[in-house]
Amino acid sequence: MMMDPFQHRRASGSFIVLEGIDGSGTTTHAGLLHRHLVRHGRRAHCTREPSDGPIGSLIRLALSRRVGVRGADGTFAPLDETTLALAFAADRADHLRSEIIPSLENGEIVICDRYYLSSLAYQSAGADYGWLRTLNTKFLRPDLTVFLDVPPTVALERVRTDGRMAQIYENLERLVQVRAAYLRAIEDLRSEGEHIVVVSSDRPARDVHAEIVRLAEGLVPEAGPKG
Ligand code: TMP
Repeated sequence: MMMDPFQHRRASGSFIVLEGIDGSGTTTHAGLLHRHLVRHGRRAHCTREPSDGPIGSLIRLALSRRVGVRGADGTFAPLDETTLALAFAADRADHLRSEIIPSLENGEIVICDRYYLSSLAYQSAGADYGWLRTLNTKFLRPDLTVFLDVPPTVALERVRTDGRMAQIYENLERLVQVRAAYLRAIEDLRSEGEHIVVVSSDRPARDVHAEIVRLAEGLVPEAGPKG
């Protein structure tokens, strides 16, 4: 029988995903957790989706409106959610095969800034949820997903003061909708036994980090401070 390319043999690595609406702090906390683990002698690998691979790079261009489609009237339009969902899934397949699974099989703790829960939350605004589930069903399940929950108004303020390039998803109405879609998808995945923890991110980064570390320690006991 052919081995499933999107699963791994669960040698010894753990797969931790950070999720949340834009401005919730997933990138900050992925980096902080990675540094914490490495400082405590763990072999950890930090990565993100869209990935830095070829399809992920194309997606980033689409999200920042540098790649899109030209309508019949000549005006520019961003890629639609169905096309994006397929691109994100293609990127995920490539990311799993080229980076995530090799790291896990090498015994590393993999921390991923966003994964398929992002597709269920963001793309469900314009694509059928059941179809998105099917599209992502083969992909390796994380051992732990932390959803950083923050009020959309706070998130938008953070994104604006951040000075990052505007992405197609960053407006208040959209963030409210994406947060609601996240909460629905979390319930759905939990009902299938997926380990997802909601952590409030509307407080000092240090406190949020401490809680994420505690959750990671539950998964990989040796990750805590030594001595
Ligand atoms: P970020 O790198 O700042 O997190 O931005 C990535 C954006 O891509 C963010 O707005 C969420 C979005 N996204 C999706 O819409 N679907 C996905 O499957 C993933 C991984 C990200």
